[in-house]
Amino acid sequence: KIKERMRMIIVNEQEKVFHLNNGRISYLFYVMESGQLGHLYFGKALTQKGSYLHMVEKAHRPMTTYITEGDLYTSYEHLRQEYPCYGTSDYRYPAMEIQGGDGSRICKLEYQRYRIINGKKPLPGLPATYVEDESEASTVEIVMRDSKYALEVVFSYSIFRDFDAIARSVQLVNHGKEALLVNRAMSMSIDFPDAAFQSVQLSGAWARERYVHVRDLQPGITAVSSMRGNSSHQHNPFLALKRKNTTEQSGEAYGFSLIYSGNFLAQAEVDNYQVLRVMLGINPFGFQWKLDAAANFTTPEAVMVYSNAGLNGMSQQFHRLYRNRLVRGYWRDRERPVLINNWEATQFDYVEEDLIRFAAKAKECDIELFVLDDGWFGARNDDKCGLGDWKANTQKLPNGIEGLSKRIEALGMKFGLWFEPEMVNKDSDFFRMHPDYIIATPERSVSHGRNQFVLDFSRREVVDAIYEQMYALLSKAKISYIKWDMNRSISECYSKAYHSDQQGEIFHRYILGVYDLHERLIQAFPSLLIESCASGGGRFDAGMLYYAPQGWVSDDSDAIERLKIQYGTSLVYPLSCMGAHVSACPNEQVGRQTPLETRGNVAFTGAFGYELDLNKLSVNEIETVKKQVAFYKENRNFIAKSDFYRLCSPFETNFAAWEAVAPDGKRALVTVTRILSEINGPYRRLPLCGLLPEQQYHIKSQYLSYNAYGDELMQYGMILEDKSSGQIIDGSGGCQDFRSVLYEITAVQGC
Ligand code: DGJ
Repeated sequence: KIKERMRMIIVNEQEKVFHLNNGRISYLFYVMESGQLGHLYFGKALTQKGSYLHMVEKAHRPMTTYITEGDLYTSYEHLRQEYPCYGTSDYRYPAMEIQGGDGSRICKLEYQRYRIINGKKPLPGLPATYVEDESEASTVEIVMRDSKYALEVVFSYSIFRDFDAIARSVQLVNHGKEALLVNRAMSMSIDFPDAAFQSVQLSGAWARERYVHVRDLQPGITAVSSMRGNSSHQHNPFLALKRKNTTEQSGEAYGFSLIYSGNFLAQAEVDNYQVLRVMLGINPFGFQWKLDAAANFTTPEAVMVYSNAGLNGMSQQFHRLYRNRLVRGYWRDRERPVLINNWEATQFDYVEEDLIRFAAKAKECDIELFVLDDGWFGARNDDKCGLGDWKANTQKLPNGIEGLSKRIEALGMKFGLWFEPEMVNKDSDFFRMHPDYIIATPERSVSHGRNQFVLDFSRREVVDAIYEQMYALLSKAKISYIKWDMNRSISECYSKAYHSDQQGEIFHRYILGVYDLHERLIQAFPSLLIESCASGGGRFDAGMLYYAPQGWVSDDSDAIERLKIQYGTSLVYPLSCMGAHVSACPNEQVGRQTPLETRGNVAFTGAFGYELDLNKLSVNEIETVKKQVAFYKENRNFIAKSDFYRLCSPFETNFAAWEAVAPDGKRALVTVTRILSEINGPYRRLPLCGLLPEQQYHIKSQYLSYNAYGDELMQYGMILEDKSSGQIIDGSGGCQDFRSVLYEITAVQGC
């Protein structure tokens, strides 16, 4: 009766129940009598039993519409579903809406068959998690059909052997003779049996991206979204659910992350019977895809994580999956270079010799990569011109990029270069040649952002024209890294290249064009390191990670501001992908003065670098920089592969503390930052995580050196005080605000 197709997917053929189980998590759904898919369970692994259908809860409820005459029980409104459609008795928001030639928007999907695949298939033209070996994941494809439209809809579910995650996507194939309009096609939807959750979202704005916001779910909708064309500074394509008593360290948490960089919607809907519907996918607002006869459409991938080890447990699952099986290629497992970027030091104002002096000083500090930011091309001396002309400004750089890159390499450093490939200034040769290449609605004015306009990347010829310019430069000059910036959102979205009934496709087609350009560059230059950026963190999402293994977290480089930003970012994204730099003091964005040590300590738990002119530092400061660079180089491999624990939240306390622990528990690095100084404060201890209880460790900081066992450090906590002064952290006098200490915890051999 029960066929075990693969260890991780068990199918009860008779009852048509599908059980995805990797020994730690279970995901269960079934085929209803009516042919729709019903949701049964997602959470901690359940032992495989003969039957699960008793889990289906169904009651007669007044004021309900029922799907079959004579039956007063079966209504989709009161059945937990897997991928609901609107219009046949369910009044909650649907996962899919299809518009037929007759104008109807009702769709009825019926189960046809299933197929189990060892491993996991790539998604055409879209970023997605992957496997390197078929045994790493199992995939079940469920084929559904709407017979009126001859529309086939394939739901794909992959469960991973080594990660507590399930990846979902949906493919629509039009087997009919007429075109259909896809008004909504989410990547995933689940109906949870209860709604006793809080939602966790990452929201903010420019320079304060991805702050953690928690709210109690109430009847109705809780949602975050973007309709800007980029995933946005405002909301991240992510939503978590946690129980009220779930903390960072314990309790149930579910995370939903979309591997996509454009308009998205993440929504939780609580109905009036305490059923919770969660869905994630392309934002239906402004979206409409014309699915011609014989054409197909694939949604982006959504990743669903379950943990009963708190929010940290959830984050660790995302981190492991994303850094090992979303990030790919040459840089996935390699140590990232320590870089220095000239933007905050020079902005547009430099000539070649300034850059050489800048880089030479960085070389003296053993920095490995010099990144030339905005202003090197066309007639660019401010943000009013030049974008689109990806040729060196020879007034600033007489030897061109080729010559400059050679000089940098001659210093013993690698060279990196800034681009903003998707944008154009009207004052540029490129625009003068191709004024019709921008996104603009006919007979409407076009809004600008930072004096720039968005190139229509939904058009192949536009992407080609930019690729050619970038290719020419990358193939001639010695460029090891590019910073791919994007400094405005899309407005007046419309493409001249598409018919009026395809204008709802443009936002998505644009992102497909961005992915295509990335892919072509990676294929042509496999060892090129790409760092994504969008005015800081305006497109910091899982989609970009597939192409750019690191991203500039925020334009706010102040270490204290970064505490919240990096803390929030770490809910989903691994440390190795967070571009984090030490910048000048006072800080450019907030004018704050912070110790150089604090700036280093906060940036260490990221892809580390500098964003200032080292020639302006004192001899002592340069010594500190040299020590920081040496420390990071020694520890970067460990940090990148560590398990990360948030210990103390800057959103709730005067402290931010986090810990990077080696997966074997033998080593940890703890960063503790006290935001404002305090007088005569309490004794403070910080319970650590992830250590071996019976192992003795040596704890070392600038002020402390002692031995303690893992169980004590995790139960009693690590002592934070500088015992000599009774004050936390630092007795050096002067301003005690913004102090930070790094604690190295090392297993004592043989103890
Ligand atoms: C915005 C980025 O976030 C900055 O780091 C810098 O590259 C500027 N753009 C350059 O215009």
